[in-house]
Amino acid sequence: SYNMMEDVERILISEAELAQRVKELGAQITADYTGKEILMIGILRGAVLFMSDLMRAISLPVSLDFMAVSSYGVSTTSSGVVRIMKDLDENAENKHVLIVEDIIDSGLTLNYLVDNLKSRRPASVKICTLLSKPDRRKAEVQIAYNGFTIPDYFVVGYGLDFAEKYRNFPFIGVLKPSVYQSAKQSAKI
Ligand code: PRP
Ligand code: MN
Ligand code: MG
Repeated sequence: SYNMMEDVERILISEAELAQRVKELGAQITADYTGKEILMIGILRGAVLFMSDLMRAISLPVSLDFMAVSSYGVSTTSSGVVRIMKDLDENAENKHVLIVEDIIDSGLTLNYLVDNLKSRRPASVKICTLLSKPDRRKAEVQIAYNGFTIPDYFVVGYGLDFAEKYRNFPFIGVLKPSVYQSAKQSAKI
């Protein structure tokens, strides 16, 4: 029978390494925001797993909200145009906003979202991402908290998908090229 692990070339970041780094990020955020409350904004859907672990590593009041944005293109050529498909449920004004992402790739999503959120007059806006792929950057993004800097591998797991699959791996794995080369779907690869 089919085992999802067959599609993984190798594990890049293990479950234990993820847990350790999330703890460190939580401790650093707790120290930096002492005396404050944090409004975590998760970017659906990839950020959900990281966000749920990160919030439990922070010992300050944390409230949650979510945004969903449209993919700006189906090919590797990105327009940089981002459309908000789901906006915040709460007002971000005067809040200490911490945007939580699973990965920053081209940077186009967050380059847009940071400006968008700043226009709502929050007390502060910072970014926390689990992964960063600087080799792919097209737009500048200031990252306050970065879990891991990785090369331009096609990674899945711990929230990250390929064609909506593999998000439930507890580790970050490198997908076998045969998997995405044979896929008919166009994806951001
Ligand atoms: C991925 C990822 C980030 C974004 C990063 O989301 O989760 O949100 O792309 O790419 P960028 O830096 O090039 O803008 P995706 O659009 O695949 O949606 P998903 O989170 O639902 O998988
Ligand atoms: Mn995403
Ligand atoms: Mg995706």
